Amino acid sequence: MDALLTSASFVFRDDGTAYSPRHDDIYHSAAGALAQARHVFLQGNGLPARWRARKRFIVLETGFGMGINFLATWAAWREDAHHATMLEFISIEKHPFSVDDLHRAHAAIIDDAAVVPLAASLVSAWPPLEAGLHRLAFDAGMMTLTLAFGDAADVLQRLADHCVTVDAIYLDGFAPAKNPDMWTPAIFASLARIATHDATFATFTSAGDVKRALLNNGFEYRKVAGFGGKRAMLVGKRS
Ligand SMILES: C[S@@+](CC[C@H](N)C(=O)[O-])C[C@H]1O[C@@H](n2cnc3c(N)ncnc32)[C@H](O)[C@@H]1O
Repeated sequence: MDALLTSASFVFRDDGTAYSPRHDDIYHSAAGALAQARHVFLQGNGLPARWRARKRFIVLETGFGMGINFLATWAAWREDAHHATMLEFISIEKHPFSVDDLHRAHAAIIDDAAVVPLAASLVSAWPPLEAGLHRLAFDAGMMTLTLAFGDAADVLQRLADHCVTVDAIYLDGFAPAKNPDMWTPAIFASLARIATHDATFATFTSAGDVKRALLNNGFEYRKVAGFGGKRAMLVGKRS
């Protein structure tokens, strides 16, 4: 579990989006990375309302990338007077950034004064790029980030075997057509095993294969308006 991973590299395109040469896809919408995180993943999972009055709430993400979704979630939790006492964020990443690239990406992308210090804390705590689980704690341990460095299919199966359960799922693994490895039937089968009975999910895609995999694994979905000019995205819950 301590094998070194192949780190990610990125380039900025003319429209300001960070682009992955490995996956030939962009990390976030040109219409805004934080705004996308809030629309697709927070609102798509009914957050912050769903974590209110909870002692502990767990979010699972496929694809940590630059941590924009994590930072948007952490900022929303901090701003919400009625937030869950403890928020645990588990995110899976096969090709993490070097700490320098993470910092460079944040400096270019993050334009919200409330998020800037959170990004700095994340950069300071960034673990070595070794496969396995890296648990980071912030805000006196009430906000935790478990970075699971490894392949999503393997990690999810392990989480399910260890009876981990999650309340909200962010599916953010590049477009299914560009990166089918993040959208396999095995991944959805593991997600079904770790989702609590009232767990929700959200994703930027509305691809047919994803819809079928969701239905085949005990999730129901709705198509709602996407972000930044995208006609549709999917949200839903355990059926
Ligand atoms: C669209 S980006 C995620 C953006 C991220 N959620 C954020 O807020 O910055 C997709 C991520 O999935 C990761 N990824 C791609 N294939 C993977 C796999 N098989 N297992 C785990 N992570 C993978 C990529 O390295 C990339 O960081």
